[in-house]
Amino acid sequence: MNQVYEKLTTCYESIKARIPFEPKIALVLGSGLGDYADTVQAEAVIGYHEIKGFPVSTVAGHKGCFVFAHIGSVPVVMMQGRIHYYEGYHMTDVVLPVRLMKLMGAEILFLTNAAGGVNAGFCAGDFMMITDQISSFVPSPLIGPNIEELGVRFCDMSEVYDKQLQAILRSSAEDLGIDLKEGVYMQLTGPAYETPAEVRMVRTLGGDAVGMSTACEAVAANHMGMKICGISCISNLACGMTDQPLSHEEVKETGERVAPLFKQLVTEAVIRMGKER
Ligand code: HPA
Repeated sequence: MNQVYEKLTTCYESIKARIPFEPKIALVLGSGLGDYADTVQAEAVIGYHEIKGFPVSTVAGHKGCFVFAHIGSVPVVMMQGRIHYYEGYHMTDVVLPVRLMKLMGAEILFLTNAAGGVNAGFCAGDFMMITDQISSFVPSPLIGPNIEELGVRFCDMSEVYDKQLQAILRSSAEDLGIDLKEGVYMQLTGPAYETPAEVRMVRTLGGDAVGMSTACEAVAANHMGMKICGISCISNLACGMTDQPLSHEEVKETGERVAPLFKQLVTEAVIRMGKER
């Protein structure tokens, strides 16, 4: 068997019996937004370290577990803490948790992250719905022998972020009176923040926000046929757009400041997505 697939099925087999329900939505919580999982009534928690063969996250401030809960009446599995490429993992390990949540039954992937705002119309604290992405600066998680059990060799990428889910996010934000920006997310490897010249490059290439995650997960999920949506919390304006140096503290602080609004938006959108089909 393909080694990447074998690792994935080993992880799945090791926790299968402990999964309390079949999730409809998989929610990935980004930097500073992970507290969302603490505000729901968890029905089960599975620590990443308990899963046989699972790549365990090392970043300070990132908790590592799957949290199972109903949001409204929608069964959701949340990733509290994701795995980043800059930690040194192989890209197939970075996307393993997303693939695992699909094996658990999730049809929809709801991605969130903290990102730097590159579009001059954005402010720190804004939310940006991801309409498309550029992942060309990080290795594809699909490199290597194709895993036929998961998807096709040359997968279509014409609508990575599902139009119907985008409409739900838009109307949820509107009804809650939350200003929701829209734009293209570009993933770079990190872990250093960008230089001002790199930020100009991102803008020239069509990026509205820049970060170190998400796009690779969307590639893997799209390969498996999941419906995907995403929100970036613009935690700061990208480097060179203000005269302030960037810090991880600033990113976390903004996340904490906007957490209540973020919670409202995610909760409302998840409930509406649960009603689809
Ligand atoms: N750049 C890259 N990643 C980020 C940023 C940024 O400015 N802010 C939060 N994550």
